[in-house]
Amino acid sequence: MLLVGGRSMEATVWFLTGNQGKLEEAQLHFAPLGYEIKQLVVPEGALVEPQSASLQDIAISKLEQAKAHLPTPDAMIMVEDSGLFINALDGFPGVYSSYVHDTIGCQGILRLLAHLESEDPVQHKKLRAASYRAVIAMWNGTSMYVGLGECPGSLASEMHEGHGFGYDPIFVPLDLDDFGQPLPAGELGSTSTHGTAFGGVEIDIKHHFSHRRRALENLLEQLP
Ligand code: IMP
Repeated sequence: MLLVGGRSMEATVWFLTGNQGKLEEAQLHFAPLGYEIKQLVVPEGALVEPQSASLQDIAISKLEQAKAHLPTPDAMIMVEDSGLFINALDGFPGVYSSYVHDTIGCQGILRLLAHLESEDPVQHKKLRAASYRAVIAMWNGTSMYVGLGECPGSLASEMHEGHGFGYDPIFVPLDLDDFGQPLPAGELGSTSTHGTAFGGVEIDIKHHFSHRRRALENLLEQLP
């Protein structure tokens, strides 16, 4: 049995997601804390994706619906909703990130931002500023907890494929300082992808920056 903050942690959390990339990241983040993450699969069409401009409202609605599919009556369940928010597009695609990725993809986003270029590298990053945001909602059998996380960065001008999923081929995170906090665009930090998009780095590097990890940490801080 593992002790974290004086508490024994030996639990299975059922994660409602069809996205293998999210599942692997959650397993990576939770394993050191003594949680085993298993995928919760519900019948096709069992969940209704609510129409809302808020990641938080969507995550909470999905969690409420998922309660009807608990593997055991006292199971802990978790849902996550995330997206890419592009500053120059007033936050688009945001809650529509999944749909937009399936339709126009990373190449379509690059076309939408094609006019946002600068010779000056710092200005270039500022023009193309964006962030990943994640909301994770968890039901521990008695209460609901909600964690929020953000990963600020910018969008590259070209695709860098190989690792990750979704918009990772074009998303470059801001460097982090010694305390893991994001630095202003153009400042070099002790943790850096050196201008490479997440698509070009291993999952354990992305882990340092991840909005999903931050949301999980924020959630774990709230658990009793
Ligand atoms: P949803 O939360 O399943 O509605 O989907 C969120 C969408 O945002 C994903 O399908 C991806 O397109 C995008 N997204 C969220 N997090 C990430 C990430 O860590 N990397 C790349 N794309 C992401």
